Amino acid sequence: MRLDKLLGNNGFGTRKDVKQLIREGTVRVNGIAEKDPGSHVNPEMDSVDVLGEPVVHQEFIYIMMNKPPGVISATEDKWDQTVIDLLAENDQRFEPFPVGRLDKDTEGLLVITNDGKLTHELLSPKKDIPKTYFAKIDGIVNDGDVAAFREGVTLEDGFHTKPGMLNVLVSDAISEIELTITEGKFHQVKRMFEAVDKKVIYLKRLSMGNLSLDESLPLGHYRELTEQELNKLDPRKKG
Ligand code: URA
Repeated sequence: MRLDKLLGNNGFGTRKDVKQLIREGTVRVNGIAEKDPGSHVNPEMDSVDVLGEPVVHQEFIYIMMNKPPGVISATEDKWDQTVIDLLAENDQRFEPFPVGRLDKDTEGLLVITNDGKLTHELLSPKKDIPKTYFAKIDGIVNDGDVAAFREGVTLEDGFHTKPGMLNVLVSDAISEIELTITEGKFHQVKRMFEAVDKKVIYLKRLSMGNLSLDESLPLGHYRELTEQELNKLDPRKKG
């Protein structure tokens, strides 16, 4: 990796700032001043310091966000604010992206990372990663719906879903439920309820795999995952 990129990626300023730092001779690679911003370093092997302050290389970032409504799960958009726009510049420099999508009006747990391999593990249909949602439904959700979801339901385009585990918390004119599904089709929860003639009026994701939303995070706020949470999330680890 280029020396100026390493410094830029690890919080030592813009590309222009770090080029200047390097040219001024303030940066040492393995104890020797290096004045060429384009020189190559191996962040795993070489020790780099700026005025004696070691450059600690962080390659990946893993963020848990409590996604607010009105913001879209994308890296950029012409019209709307994206979840990436909500990140501090210092976190955006990792070029992270959301792991899957929540609808614009959906709230709750969204993992944001720049780790493509983990993202693949979490989104691959073969992996059956469970996702649990809380929802308010316009209409009485009953045992018939629980049974239908247990068998999987047929969406309006003919797709038959895998089984969903429906837990009815309140069965009333406005019902409250928790639903766990292992797929991530476009608008899946909303369409599953449409398949039983009901409408989702509020939707929030509570968990993904073994990772639960930190309910103390206000809407629109985020933090990095702890190592323990990352182990829980990563299906390749036992967590
Ligand atoms: N299912 C939906 O319908 N919307 C979401 O945002 C997530 C799952």
